[in-house]
Amino acid sequence: MANRVFAPAKINLTLHVTGRRSDGYHLLDSLVSFAPVGDWLTVAPGDGLTLEVSGPEAAGVPDDMSNLALRAAALLAGHEGAALTLEKNLPAASGIGGGSADAAAALRGIATLSGEIPQGFLELPDLLMHRHAERILGLGADVPMCVLSHPLRARGIGERLGLVTLPDIAAVLVNPRLPVPTPAVFKALETRDNPPMPDTLPEFPDAASLIGFLARMRNDLEAPALKVEPGIRAVLDALAGQGGCGLARMSGSGATCFGLFLSEDDARAAAQALTEAHPGWWVASGVLGDCSELALPRPQ
Ligand code: C5P
Repeated sequence: MANRVFAPAKINLTLHVTGRRSDGYHLLDSLVSFAPVGDWLTVAPGDGLTLEVSGPEAAGVPDDMSNLALRAAALLAGHEGAALTLEKNLPAASGIGGGSADAAAALRGIATLSGEIPQGFLELPDLLMHRHAERILGLGADVPMCVLSHPLRARGIGERLGLVTLPDIAAVLVNPRLPVPTPAVFKALETRDNPPMPDTLPEFPDAASLIGFLARMRNDLEAPALKVEPGIRAVLDALAGQGGCGLARMSGSGATCFGLFLSEDDARAAAQALTEAHPGWWVASGVLGDCSELALPRPQ
């Protein structure tokens, strides 16, 4: 039976670059949450592996084996094959996990196709990570966290994951439609041994306490991304200038930035204002938090 799988956007609330491995990959310490804004993947039984891409952000997204969703599907599909249909709503190469979220959705969808997989809270991602951790990481450093789609702290190159409890928080996501290649941003990084976050994270009784903590932390890729793409500055400034915005920061290696708000109404108003002022920008709003249930495959 076919299923439909949601691929939520990944948001790096913080991203500290704390070192570099001998293979060139960077060591990170990142607090990550997920947005109820994302792509939709339909996974159906099929002959061989096929992918069709549609949706508002489909332009330029490959439908061959260079697409991470197809590569992920190939990991688990075995001889049965699968037909994937991807509705692309997240801009590509934008620091919010797009391709990684699609790959993770493909893994959840294919695993469910076989009918053997439990459907309970986090059971499916746990099982996938338990059986295939190395191969999933091999798809990309952000794929394991997208498999979980639950707030977490990521260390190592993104494979050491610890679930965290975070208060829900309203956010506006803005991408200026300037694709930024991740390797170029890491290359432009000047300091690679920045301090990590505190070993023990404080408790966050409410969204205000979370914003206060985040404001003292960093995204170490923001400065190098601004060098690669100076247009990101206008996005950060526009978000910070919205009424009720408590923090404006870039996610991942950019160019998508997010603004955090204590009030959902303020976030919605900000999204509306930004859409009107910048018709060329991609703008979305939603409450960041646990998207693990939302990301479970549902029968179609
Ligand atoms: O793993 P992924 O394919 O997402 O990474 C893309 C590129 O980003 C890598 O080739 C590498 O240049 C850089 N990267 C890194 N350290 C990480 C993750 C990514 O240097 N932890």
